[in-house]
Amino acid sequence: MATLNLNSVEKSYGSLQVIHGVSIDIADGEFVTLVGPSGCGKSTLLRMIAGLETISGGEIHIGERMVNNLPPRDRDIAMVFQSYALYPHKNVAQNMGYALKLAGRPKAEIDKRVREAAEILDLTKLLDRKPAHLSGGQRQRVAMGRAIVRDPKVFLFDEPLSNLDAKLRVVMRTEIKELHHRLKTTIVYVTHDQIEAMTMADRIVVMHDGMVEQAGRPLDLYDRPTNIFVAGFLGSPAMNLVHGHVDSEGGLPVLKTLDGCRLPLPTTIPAAAVNRDIILGFRPEHLSLSTEGTEFSFPTRLVVTEPTGAETLLATRCGTTDITALVRDRIDAVPGTDITLALQPKRLHFFDSVSGQALPLR
Ligand SMILES: Nc1ncnc2c1ncn2[C@@H]1O[C@H](COP(=O)(O)OP(=O)(O)OP(=O)(O)O)[C@@H](O)[C@H]1O
Ligand SMILES: [Mg+2]
Repeated sequence: MATLNLNSVEKSYGSLQVIHGVSIDIADGEFVTLVGPSGCGKSTLLRMIAGLETISGGEIHIGERMVNNLPPRDRDIAMVFQSYALYPHKNVAQNMGYALKLAGRPKAEIDKRVREAAEILDLTKLLDRKPAHLSGGQRQRVAMGRAIVRDPKVFLFDEPLSNLDAKLRVVMRTEIKELHHRLKTTIVYVTHDQIEAMTMADRIVVMHDGMVEQAGRPLDLYDRPTNIFVAGFLGSPAMNLVHGHVDSEGGLPVLKTLDGCRLPLPTTIPAAAVNRDIILGFRPEHLSLSTEGTEFSFPTRLVVTEPTGAETLLATRCGTTDITALVRDRIDAVPGTDITLALQPKRLHFFDSVSGQALPLR
């Protein structure tokens, strides 16, 4: 086990810089997910930690050791990729033990470590099978087994579940979390799936265009996103982000959009939002069905309803502004119906309209 420290890490391919000074300190035994849209540099960063890419600037430490110039085999890490490419002619045991065999370990030790890993991953009964005769989830477990037998200081996962179907992903998600509880090894896990990132990690690092936008505990990021990128990226359906001007009506603040939508605000809005252009954020699940005249309510027109059984997703429009609500109620209103929604004053997010940064709350 080991800590992992990235200090102002940069990566350029020729004149193209793709990682712009990333600093992350990962504690011993911590499970960190790197999440962000396609092309933001997640795999590049992971490959630099693994030693599969050179580092253009900054330093990476694994434990006490600066590893910038260490070859991958000396870094004591194991990486699990999205395409786990097992050797088709080797059985499960041979696939799992292959790296140890290459390293010249004695057969008795390889057998022991493979058996232990198989036990952990529930693969004991499958050790003689060839990969072609395994399910997708079992193959994924073999790929993890290959990493576990090496007993690394740090595990790196690069979207290991994205080849699996939705149901299996949920199962494997739980398995990997449980595995972490048992092994207590430091894990860096890359995904572009924000649900995976939220549910698995001790801490999330949200990346965008080769930079860290925000890092912290999953629910802290969900509740207090530092800018509109993080606000819009975490959460499904996504947070509503409405551009408008904060005005005062009868002594009470309201957000007015250019298209005539009017959202009532509490008097406790940030000082920096008063009489200013802002972006107001509120999550779909923090809206409720209401009636005209109720505090913090506003009129919308129903565009589409999507009942999922437990909840109903309402796509509505206030003026021409799209507003999504997620409610527990079942709705039988048809599109075109007027619907009154209400905001929760304590669940509002205020962002600067130019920088997109969160405005400090009072
Ligand atoms: N060998 C390379 N040469 C030039 N540019 C590269 C190279 N490898 C990656 N890039 C660029 O670096 C950026 C980051 O790529 P990276 O693969 O790290 O993204 P990612 O966050 O893992 O995306 P995804 O979610 O699609 O896997 C991209 O813009 C990509 O085009
Ligand atoms: Mg990638």
